[in-house]
Amino acid sequence: IPVDTFDLVIFGGTGDLARRKIFPGLYRRFLAGQMPEGSRIIGAARADLTEAAFRATVREAIDEFVPEARKDAAVIDAFIGRIGYVSIDAKGTGGWPDLRAMMRENVVRAFYFSVAPVLFGDIAERLHEHGIADAWSRIVVEKPFGRDLASARALNETLAKHFTEAQIYRIDHYLGKETVQNLMAVRFANILFEPLWKAEYIDHVQITVAETVGVEGRGAYYDKSGAMRDMVQNHLMQLLCLIAMEPPYHFDPDAVRDEKLKVIRALDAVKPEDIVRGQYLAGGGQEGYVAHSENPASKTESYIALKVHISNWRWKGTPFYLRTGKRLRARASEIAITFKEPPHSIFDDAEGWRENVLVIRLQPNEGMNLMMMIKEPGPGGMRLMQVPLDMAFADALGADAEDIPDAYERLIMDVIRGNQTLFMRGDEVEAAWAWADPIIQGWEERGMKPQGYDPGSSGPEDALMLMHKDGRRWREIRE
Ligand code: BG6
Repeated sequence: IPVDTFDLVIFGGTGDLARRKIFPGLYRRFLAGQMPEGSRIIGAARADLTEAAFRATVREAIDEFVPEARKDAAVIDAFIGRIGYVSIDAKGTGGWPDLRAMMRENVVRAFYFSVAPVLFGDIAERLHEHGIADAWSRIVVEKPFGRDLASARALNETLAKHFTEAQIYRIDHYLGKETVQNLMAVRFANILFEPLWKAEYIDHVQITVAETVGVEGRGAYYDKSGAMRDMVQNHLMQLLCLIAMEPPYHFDPDAVRDEKLKVIRALDAVKPEDIVRGQYLAGGGQEGYVAHSENPASKTESYIALKVHISNWRWKGTPFYLRTGKRLRARASEIAITFKEPPHSIFDDAEGWRENVLVIRLQPNEGMNLMMMIKEPGPGGMRLMQVPLDMAFADALGADAEDIPDAYERLIMDVIRGNQTLFMRGDEVEAAWAWADPIIQGWEERGMKPQGYDPGSSGPEDALMLMHKDGRRWREIRE
């Protein structure tokens, strides 16, 4: 799909996200020939930098975060030539007239708010006041989008003063991941799975997002957030929605988001006994969570596991187990759908039998794996064994991992194209907080402390029990 010529202004242009993700992502799109002639990227931040000095920081970011194989000196020079800078005071008047003067008519104007949410209102206001944003302009905002329902609502109201919902792009970078979008292709472009995709045939679903990193350096933000706010309310919720939603009538922004919203609204309240929170301990020469949070008595969770029920016709009775955590044994994100037993077995080998499991590996080693039953080879009678029908996307597509575009590349281009399908709508974010709020309040009111877990483990002991008590087991966390 062609992209129109654009002016993309990045507030927070000197920040960490811009350096790690936004500029390297834009460079890769440029390299792929996807940045139309005449398009420009303008960094905006408080620092008093010359354009040349800012360009140098972008060059360093590319150097650090783009794989060697994708670096081409001539292309980097040409890309850097597209970059401008304006020093701006979000709360005052400084720099705004300069930015106004840089804007061109008849190109797409997009404004990326890669800044702390407390500044969203100021920036929106200034863009409006100085006539920088017009009715066709788009704004992009990042998480955290609120820390509860009330603050998310307030943010939505702030943005709504100057922008319509159609102009607001709320990023959840999980939706930009190729494998996450693939969930929709797998479900809705194949006849194979969808007829079985319901409580009648599915025993349970496991959604795992395991990380090996800790919260080093991000303690100040993270300690006020925790895994529930940082990962579950947004990223895991989006995965859950894509797995559980009804087929949208079309792959269209509101059709998809309407269906996701219905899932969130159908979520039951989670019982306290179905929640396990953990915090990583020190070990293996590494510091524990509390050292990173700078609060020796911190009760913030760096791990959470929950059992979730969706009360609708399709899912009544099928639990969804979600878990995510830091400092776990491997970086591994996957969705595993475990099917039920056939209604009647004609074989005597009850021992060899295992459930069918469809595993969708989100990262790393993106791919799919369908665990199936076959006959064990040999003359010893009809014995059963389980084998994987395994597909690694890199093999199937003949691509190497570096060819899989980063989430941000895709999402920023969607903003320019004006396609909101992979962005969260305001009501969706609010519904997700409306579900999460009472869960968080529950443990806060009871002053509950997370259970310690060893770094490099699979999480706290109690998380195992969460499934054992239902006669089920978590899948092993491994790359
Ligand atoms: C971010 C969270 O949104 O997602 C981080 O704030 C987390 O805590 C990150 O590490 C995980 O993203 P990814 O793309 O590495 O799975």
